[in-house]
Amino acid sequence: MPYITTPIYYVNDKPHIGHAYTTIACDVWARWQRLMGRETFFLTGTDEHGQKVQQSAEKAGISPQAFTDDVSQRFRDLANDLDISHDDFIRTTEPRHHQSAQAFWQKLVDAGAIYEGKYAGWYSVKDEQYFADNEIVNGKAPSGHAVEWLEEPSYFFRLSDYGDRLLKYIADNPDFIAPESRKNEVIAFIKDGLQDLSISRTSFNWGIKVPGDDKHVMYVWIEALSNYLTALGYPRNIEKFWPADVHVVGKDILRFHAVYWPAFLVSADLPLPKRIFAHGWWTNEGQKISKSLGNVIDPYDLIERYGLDPVRYFLLREIPFGNDGNFSKEAIKKRVNSDLANDYGNLCQRVLAMIVKNCDGRLSDCTPQTQDDSDFIAPLEQLPQEVDALMQKQAFHKVLELIWQHISNANRYIDAQAPWKLKKTDPVRMHAILSILVDAIRRVTFVTQPFMPNITAQIFQQLNTDSGNTSLSAGHKINQPVPLFQKIEGD
Ligand code: MSP
Repeated sequence: MPYITTPIYYVNDKPHIGHAYTTIACDVWARWQRLMGRETFFLTGTDEHGQKVQQSAEKAGISPQAFTDDVSQRFRDLANDLDISHDDFIRTTEPRHHQSAQAFWQKLVDAGAIYEGKYAGWYSVKDEQYFADNEIVNGKAPSGHAVEWLEEPSYFFRLSDYGDRLLKYIADNPDFIAPESRKNEVIAFIKDGLQDLSISRTSFNWGIKVPGDDKHVMYVWIEALSNYLTALGYPRNIEKFWPADVHVVGKDILRFHAVYWPAFLVSADLPLPKRIFAHGWWTNEGQKISKSLGNVIDPYDLIERYGLDPVRYFLLREIPFGNDGNFSKEAIKKRVNSDLANDYGNLCQRVLAMIVKNCDGRLSDCTPQTQDDSDFIAPLEQLPQEVDALMQKQAFHKVLELIWQHISNANRYIDAQAPWKLKKTDPVRMHAILSILVDAIRRVTFVTQPFMPNITAQIFQQLNTDSGNTSLSAGHKINQPVPLFQKIEGD
């Protein structure tokens, strides 16, 4: 049964557009699955251990637990404020995760995949990652963050044993990693040779203890990744939802999900997720988003300025999912005013207002009568299946493109048929045209629901129906329309 996950978010920072983006994309996917009648599990949450968090808490003068309680709550609030329909919100500091991560670790030990050794290398606290000599750029991590030389006893995972198996798996399962360009990066990384992975630390203690060796805490990635199992109740039977249908991640954390995680799962004798999708990064008005540049986009500012549903629409429409893209006020204004207010909003408003005004708010039969009617309405019958196929590939932008083609068709149809001209001459035909248009609005709105759950609910309210799933019969009464979208003035 469908299972989708967001990455669990670090609590050392407040939520920004990148977090909102991933979570909204997953939400659309999950809502779609439910709309198709599939029992779905959608997981998001926060990643709360590690040295960075411990240091941030110290700086704030509070305990790591109090610190994470506070920041984690902000992510939970954001999920609610973005109308995210997650089924579970996991925190890695919860007892259920401690138990599950330790059971997972033990399973790897039993499989002979973990050994004790010593780790030495350049460590970046900010990246929570060690770097080899040849990865250091001008004395810094590739990210530009400071590094320090560290040596410590550590447990290792035998990642070097898994290269060939992973390459074979990727070749045999062409949909496993997407998009294609990212898959090629992963293949190149594996072919370069995998090193065993240091998976524990003794230099800090804000983490989950290694079973049987209290001096060590688990290195944050092995523990964090296992959250996807914790939420299903691991080590109890997780077959209902495992393997996950898709882990959605940003391109920066693909390696952890497409190399380390599958290797851990193979050694724990668990099936691999069906798909890992790496999306791109947003820039702000052409610039990389960073705290030091002061150009971090706060999702709350966007919601306040443009409204929640338009923001959800924009983020998934503006750039192909998987590509990098740029946020600009000009771009979102254009989308809101043109796609939403003009194309979709006006279509609904015009059609419903004419019915209320001229037909006492009642529909007639919406069966097509002419060739033009059939040419217009027939392709809409395939829409749910077409959307379903695109959703399986996380091609959200293509879904919206397709829906908006139908909206444009509807606007062309109304202009060509000019029902307002028939008011005196042929009111029966006018009524039929308007009723066919209502049927089209119902159909496009049905598939738009996962993207814009609030606006579509309003449209269904105006259509006086709650599901949008079945056609409206002759005589059905609709409600008075009210404008759906506010045009953006200024910048
Ligand atoms: N805690 C890890 C994930 C562990 S999953 C087992 C982590 N957290 S994070 O909070 O730093 O990042 C979460 C996600 O936000 C990543 O997928 C990252 O790609 C995404 N983004 C951060 N900045 C972004 C943009 N500017 N644009 C789009 N997504 C961005 O990594």
